[in-house]
Amino acid sequence: MEGIYLDYNSTTPTAPEVVEAMAPFFTDNFANPFNLHRFGQRARGPVDEAREKVAALLGADSPDEIIFTSGGSESDNLAVEGVAYASRGRGRHVITSAIEHPAVLVTCEWLADEGWDVTFLSPDDEGVVHADALAAAIRPDTVLVSIMHGNNEVGTVEPIAELATVARERGVLFHTDAVQSAGKIPVNVVDLGVDLLSISAHKFYGPKGVGVLYVRNGVELVPVIHGGHQEEGRRAGTHNTPGIIGLARALELATDGREEEGERLARLRDKLEGGILAMPGSVVVMTPAGKALPNTLNVCFPGIEGEAIMLALDIEGISVATGSACVSGLSEPSHVHAAMGCPPEVARGSIRFSLGKYTIEEDIGRVLEVLPPVVERLRAVSPTND
Ligand SMILES: Cc1ncc(COP(=O)(O)O)c(C=O)c1O
Repeated sequence: MEGIYLDYNSTTPTAPEVVEAMAPFFTDNFANPFNLHRFGQRARGPVDEAREKVAALLGADSPDEIIFTSGGSESDNLAVEGVAYASRGRGRHVITSAIEHPAVLVTCEWLADEGWDVTFLSPDDEGVVHADALAAAIRPDTVLVSIMHGNNEVGTVEPIAELATVARERGVLFHTDAVQSAGKIPVNVVDLGVDLLSISAHKFYGPKGVGVLYVRNGVELVPVIHGGHQEEGRRAGTHNTPGIIGLARALELATDGREEEGERLARLRDKLEGGILAMPGSVVVMTPAGKALPNTLNVCFPGIEGEAIMLALDIEGISVATGSACVSGLSEPSHVHAAMGCPPEVARGSIRFSLGKYTIEEDIGRVLEVLPPVVERLRAVSPTND
């Protein structure tokens, strides 16, 4: 890989073993697995096997609980919108958190426009959503709680098992967006106690454009994509056979080596954090120690723009992400930082490093060499610098 890529939470390269597993399904075994003729049936078997494999890896009871989708965004939309519409006769109150990915957050805002009541729970200053806050928010008309497993920006891992217990005890369905946690930490639907769970292959070295929504047997869902009987009528559209095969293989590979890889990444992440904290000037670490995904480190350099740091690092061949989105020349602090109580002038200086399979010790050394002069230079020209 040319340059240093530290943006694995955005996307990952597809593993060569995954590409190899997918290849025959573009050419020789190309048919629509929904067709009853011999060509279709040749593709059907591998799709069924992939579904069984994914069900087993996620700890699901049955392959029928796995719906293949076009990715994390669709899985999240289907979970939130699908349950809200299926339950609308029982109640129109949904609970989520203020730090969700837009795939959940904006879908909930859309539901609010459609007449639902939505409660956005605030996390604490480490990004943790607490069970007592959830318990207090549940009402007789609450039909769904959706709280993410691992946060994409700061890496906080939510206490899903505890939160899901609160919902279950009150008869409310629970969805978790496990798009960032799958492949990085254990994701088992029984251990987490969830009714619905989203994952996306491109976050764990699988192909882009394919995901899964796990839906526990018995949970009713109104489809979002209409027009075909695929996925038991819950999601229309010709199966993305190569993608499905690739997702299953990638999840298998990510699960196999997960523990050792997690420890390796956490060591490198901690080294990076130590080096950044040793730099002169102030820095705010947003990623909570001991409560985060092993590969993620989010830090803020108060008074300077994260986007400026990101672009300066990119010139040096180091690719990272910034939490703030640049809207017409003005950087908007991230909603996650805001919800964690981080002031805008601090949040604007946010940088996210997300490490992965190809990150090595030398990469961290290089970042710690390049970053201090970049930050020093930007501080010197910052209008808020005094
Ligand atoms: C937490 C989380 N949820 C959902 C998504 C959306 O996934 P996809 O890119 O597969 O649509 C992402 C991607 O960044 C994510 O980080």
